[in-house]
Amino acid sequence: MHRRLFLKGLGLIGVASSMALPKIAMAGGLLDPMNSKLAGSLFYTMEMPGRWTGKEAGHVPMIERSGNMIEVTTGHEMDGYTHYIVKHILLDENLDFVAETIFDPDVDAPISTYDVTGMRSALYAVSLCNKHDAWLNRLAL
Ligand SMILES: [Fe+2]
Repeated sequence: MHRRLFLKGLGLIGVASSMALPKIAMAGGLLDPMNSKLAGSLFYTMEMPGRWTGKEAGHVPMIERSGNMIEVTTGHEMDGYTHYIVKHILLDENLDFVAETIFDPDVDAPISTYDVTGMRSALYAVSLCNKHDAWLNRLAL
């Protein structure tokens, strides 16, 4: 059976289409993800740590700017593949993907650098822990 027919039979085509709405709403209305309902549930922030309250300091990506470069650091242990920061992701002010750095916990520290030339108003950094999910921080430019 074709996927589309299968989804139609389950009444899921409308559901699949509506999954794009949060992104559209954010792009059109520039909802602040740091203060959205998703903070503290789908991802976590310093102010909205949700079920991971108490783990903010070791998971929120800290962003430092020097000229056109930023450094993203997560103050988290790299305990081999047992518990570590998997990656950093850089998003622009519209939450569009810009770049990512994937870490090898046997050799890397959870630090990444990016050239932000051309980025205008803000950027977002995501730090992904293999046990404690995704953490978001924002830097106004
Ligand atoms: Fe963690």
